[in-house]
Amino acid sequence: MNPYRLIDKYYTPGSKLYHILVTHSESVSKKAIALSENHALLKVDHDFIRECALLHDIGIFMTNAPGIECHGEHQYIEHGYLGGQLLRAEGYPLHARICERHTGCGLSKEDIVNGNLPLPHRDMRPQTLVEQLICFSDKFYSKTDLNRELSVEHIQKKLSKFNPEQLERFNAWLDFFK
Ligand SMILES: [Fe+2]
Repeated sequence: MNPYRLIDKYYTPGSKLYHILVTHSESVSKKAIALSENHALLKVDHDFIRECALLHDIGIFMTNAPGIECHGEHQYIEHGYLGGQLLRAEGYPLHARICERHTGCGLSKEDIVNGNLPLPHRDMRPQTLVEQLICFSDKFYSKTDLNRELSVEHIQKKLSKFNPEQLERFNAWLDFFK
C-alpha cells in the first residue's frame, strides 16, 4: 500500500498541516526503521513499519488543536482511535491498530475509565512488536518542534506526570529496543 495515497486523500499537499503531519511521521518512520535494524526480534517488513509510522497520526485533522493547524471537532486525545476508525474503513485493520495504540505509551481500560477520557472503554495499549516500536519511536518527536529529536530525559520527565505505568513502559522499551 502507498501511505501517501491516504495522506493526500485527507490532507492538502502544501498546507501547513500536511507539512506538520508528514515531517513528524517521517521522523518517526526513520527512527522506527533504524531501531528495527539493530534488533534481532524485529526482522519485520520495513515497508509495513514505514506505512504504520506514516499513518499513525492520520486522525489528527478531526481534532481541535489549533497550535498544530487542526480545526476539527474532537478532542486531540481522540486522534488515535479516530485514525483507527478511518483506516479500518479504508480496509487496513492492522495499520488501524497502530493508530489506536500509540497515545502516550498506550492507555489501559482503567486509564480511560478513571481519567474519564473521551475514548472507547477498551484496552488500547500496544501489543505487537511493531505497535510497541511505533509508539516508542513516536515519543521522540513532537509536532510543535519539528526536526528535533527529544532527549530520553525530556521524554521521561514528561511521562512522569502521568500514571507511573507510562514511564515504566517507556523505560522497559528503552531497554528492549536499544
Ligand atoms: Fe505521532
